[in-house]
Amino acid sequence: MDYSKLGFATRQIHAGLNPSEATGSRGLAIYPTAAYRFRSCDHAARLFELSEGGNIYTRLQNPTTSAYEERIAALYGGVGALAVSSGMSAIFIAISALASAGDNIVASPLLYGGTYNQFRHSLRRLGVEVRICASTDPEDFRRAIDSRTRAVFAESMGNPTCEVVDLEAIGHIAAEAGVPFIVDNTFGAGGYLCNPFDWGANIIVDSATKWINGHGTAMGGIIVDGGNFDWSNGKFACIDGPSEGYHGLNFREAFGNAAYIVKCRVDGLRDFGTCPSAFDSYLMALGLETLSLRVRHQVESTRRLAEYLRGHKAVKRVSYVGFEDHPSHRLARKYFRFGSSAVLNVELQGTVGTSARFVEALQLCAHMTMIGDSVTVVTHPASTTHKQLSEADLEAAGVTPTLLRISLGLEDVEDIIADFEHGFAAAGL
Ligand SMILES: Cc1ncc(COP(=O)(O)O)c(C=O)c1O
Repeated sequence: MDYSKLGFATRQIHAGLNPSEATGSRGLAIYPTAAYRFRSCDHAARLFELSEGGNIYTRLQNPTTSAYEERIAALYGGVGALAVSSGMSAIFIAISALASAGDNIVASPLLYGGTYNQFRHSLRRLGVEVRICASTDPEDFRRAIDSRTRAVFAESMGNPTCEVVDLEAIGHIAAEAGVPFIVDNTFGAGGYLCNPFDWGANIIVDSATKWINGHGTAMGGIIVDGGNFDWSNGKFACIDGPSEGYHGLNFREAFGNAAYIVKCRVDGLRDFGTCPSAFDSYLMALGLETLSLRVRHQVESTRRLAEYLRGHKAVKRVSYVGFEDHPSHRLARKYFRFGSSAVLNVELQGTVGTSARFVEALQLCAHMTMIGDSVTVVTHPASTTHKQLSEADLEAAGVTPTLLRISLGLEDVEDIIADFEHGFAAAGL
């Protein structure tokens, strides 16, 4: 079925759902299998040489996961998607499919702490340099690119500050340099709030652990291929050249505009092995069915909480992208539905100790490292998600010592506000 003409809410329910002819089951079946029986030795050989598609082994594909991948690809309008076991794994596989030792990646400074660690330490140890720009000025990206650059990377909305990069301008710069633009769209909520393919992205990664799952019940990551990058420009022998891992197969010639996502699967998952379980894929596909409804509620609650916090005597600063004084207000209006997100940041009066007393007194809000959950989460990034960063990287990522990140859940926002009042009183604010 051609899903491209259907609305987002219809796609999030119908795409990938191919009712079983045998059972008539409306629900997605969970296939708890590691392997699949081959019809013959010839059949097995064709599957292994990639001349025929089909299930080989759950490290590479699984029918439940395939349905979930089809749904994700339909939501983003990509040519294909690959589900993996975490957002960090999605970033690693997305980059390792393109860059070898000696190559470099040019990245935005607005990054999740785990991504900083992967870029600054693990990829560097493997010989891939990640050049983290000094600012999000698109010209900084242009200046950092050289002949060994293999991709440009940015979060559509940075974690935790909710600053938005100029996707269109950076996409142009990447295209001019002949390298793909990879966007971590975790804050874009599975494409509902933001779809970077509309603005020049070629590859999207997303921590499905967050809004896609929506209930904090499983870890996952996805990679989506826009099918809109020309791999034949001479820079990507790994895609448009003989593949040593497949007896000289040329991915671009064999798989056309889906070459990249096929390579992520048959090299990335084959060799690094970070596949999701069928049960987790089921949870992701189920979560997707209510994605737009959940996110609308969360966006509205975020606005309500931001308005309550603005001007409150306990609060030093509210950073909410829906307010005009947020540095990314204009870009958020351009790239994000409702010009907003489901996360805000706040700095309280007093010391780091005051903030700690506030967080520890909360009864409904959960103190943990999570966003996009059905419960409201309050996180102190400097002591958790961004704890391993250097002083300079903390500053570049916008993480101050007293910053609290708040990700609204699905509760009645009045109850969250009452919980905040209780926390303020306990902290003596
Ligand atoms: C923007 C962003 N990218 C990637 C990740 C990593 O995802 P995961 O925790 O699923 O590995 C996170 C986690 O919070 C994130 O916020």
